[in-house]
Amino acid sequence: QRHLISAADLTRDDAILLLDTAEEMARVADRPIKKLPTLRGRTVVNLFFEDSTRTRISFEAAEKRLSADVINFSAKGSSVSKGESLKDTAQTLEAMGVDAVVIRHGASGAPYRLATSGWIDAAVINAGDGTHQHPTQALLDAFTMRRRLVGRDAGIGRDLAGRRVTIVGDVLHSRVARSNVDLLHTLGAEVTLVAPPTLLPVGVETWPCEIAYDLDGTLPKSDAVMMLRVQRERMNAAFFPTEREYSRRYGLDGERMARMPEHAVVMHPGPMVRGMEITAEVADSDRCTVVEQVANGVSMRMAVLYLLLGGNEPAVTHTRPPAA
Ligand code: CP
Repeated sequence: QRHLISAADLTRDDAILLLDTAEEMARVADRPIKKLPTLRGRTVVNLFFEDSTRTRISFEAAEKRLSADVINFSAKGSSVSKGESLKDTAQTLEAMGVDAVVIRHGASGAPYRLATSGWIDAAVINAGDGTHQHPTQALLDAFTMRRRLVGRDAGIGRDLAGRRVTIVGDVLHSRVARSNVDLLHTLGAEVTLVAPPTLLPVGVETWPCEIAYDLDGTLPKSDAVMMLRVQRERMNAAFFPTEREYSRRYGLDGERMARMPEHAVVMHPGPMVRGMEITAEVADSDRCTVVEQVANGVSMRMAVLYLLLGGNEPAVTHTRPPAA
C-alpha cells in the first residue's frame, strides 16, 4: 500500500512528478467541466480530529473532481467523545469500504501509526499531524513558488534550485515549517528560518536550513517570504508574546515588504491573524499568494490522490517514523 506521511519521504523525482501532475490537474480546473472519472467507484474518507477550513474543503473538492465517493468524518459530534480510539474509528470506517483515509490529528505520528499498524488496508494521506508534518501544504507551497518564480509552463520538470525562501514566525509549533524545510531542501531551494529564539524547536540547527534573527536583513535576499501564524492553541499562555512586541520584530507590514526584491512573493498557509504576523495591507496586496495557495491546494491534492489511487506511475512511499 502507498501512503503520504511526510514531505521528508519524497525524493526529488517524487516531488517533481507531483508538481507536474498538479499542473495537469490545474488545466482540468480551467475547463468548463472540472471533473475526471479517475476515481469513480473509489471511496475516500476525510478523517478530521482537528479543525480545518482549507485542507478539509480542498481535499473534498479534489476527491469530487476525481469522481471519488467522499465520506466526511469530524471528531466533533462523533463517538470519539465517548472514548472510541483511533483504531476502532478507522476500522469502523474501513468496514464501510474505504480506499483512502485523509487524516488530520493533533498527535504527531497518528497518520504514521494508521499507515503502519496493520489496522486498515487503505492508503493514508497525512493532512497535518500535531507539530510534525503537513506534506500536502508543503507541496502546494512549492507548486505556488514554482509557478510564480520559475513560470507555469517553464516550470514543468524543474525544481526550485537556487531560490531563496524565508520562513518567519512560530517554527516551534509549525508542521508547515518542518514540511517546507524538508521539501524545499529536496527541491534545491535555500531556506532561512527567522523566529524568536523561544519559538525555535530543540535540534533546529540540524535541519537543512539557515537560522536568522534579523528579519529586516533577510528580506532583501528573499524570493519568497512565508509568514507563519503564532499557534496560541499549542502554547502555555504564560509564554504567549504580546501582539505589539511580536509584530514589531517579526510581523510583515508594508514598510518591511518594500525591502523585498520586486519579484518576491509573500506566502501564508492560513489561517492568518491580521495585525499579528501580517498586516491587512500586506495580506491584501498583489504580492500575497494566500488565495492562490488555496486554489493550488485543490490541484495538488488531486495530484496526490491520482498518483496514490488512480495513476500508473510509482509515487510516494514512506518508511520512517516521525522524529521524537
Ligand atoms: N493551511 C491549513 O492547513 O489550513 P487549515 O487548518 O484551515 O486546513
